[in-house]
Amino acid sequence: PGPGLAGALALIADVPDFPEPGILFKDITPLLADHTALTAVIGALAAAGRDDSGRPVVDKVLGMESRGFILGAPVALALGVGFVPVRKAGKLPRETYAVSYALEYGEATLEVHRDALEPGDRVLLVDDVLATGGTAKATMELVEHCGASVHAVAMLMELGFLPGRDAIGDVPLTCLLTV
Ligand code: PRP
Ligand code: MG
Repeated sequence: PGPGLAGALALIADVPDFPEPGILFKDITPLLADHTALTAVIGALAAAGRDDSGRPVVDKVLGMESRGFILGAPVALALGVGFVPVRKAGKLPRETYAVSYALEYGEATLEVHRDALEPGDRVLLVDDVLATGGTAKATMELVEHCGASVHAVAMLMELGFLPGRDAIGDVPLTCLLTV
């Protein structure tokens, strides 16, 4: 790719009619496969967890299953903090908090271990795409249940034609690309 973040984002591939006709799928796997591009993207997402002088200011990074795991864990390492998985229903073995949210058809449930966060922890949410915002909003509610607070939300991509940004409310939102 070309240099820097722009070159990295240029590796995201458009796949028409996936997973169904009329949907333009944004495939991030070519970006993930390129070490230079992946390094640039992880650095840019991690910046959402730093103050103006570059110091990390979050206690944990949360990633939402499953594509949020791919980006979230290296962001946590870049910031020098731990990673917390937010999982789809029924995957976590110990006591959880659960939040359900509406999908186009039906509903989905996300869970986090009750002891994954300490009260007062400041967390950074990381995922690949902000679409309707349902995933991000449910995750913010899980953080609240733990007594922790969302410092910022960092997304690789935002679908600008959907109102996901509204679901985040006043929490600082970083999106590296709007499509
Ligand atoms: C996709 C994407 C985001 C979410 C965004 O995940 O990775 O997590 O949808 O949509 P929203 O803003 O409307 O909630 P998906 O649930 O398809 O699962 P995956 O990450 O396991 O592929
Ligand atoms: Mg996802």
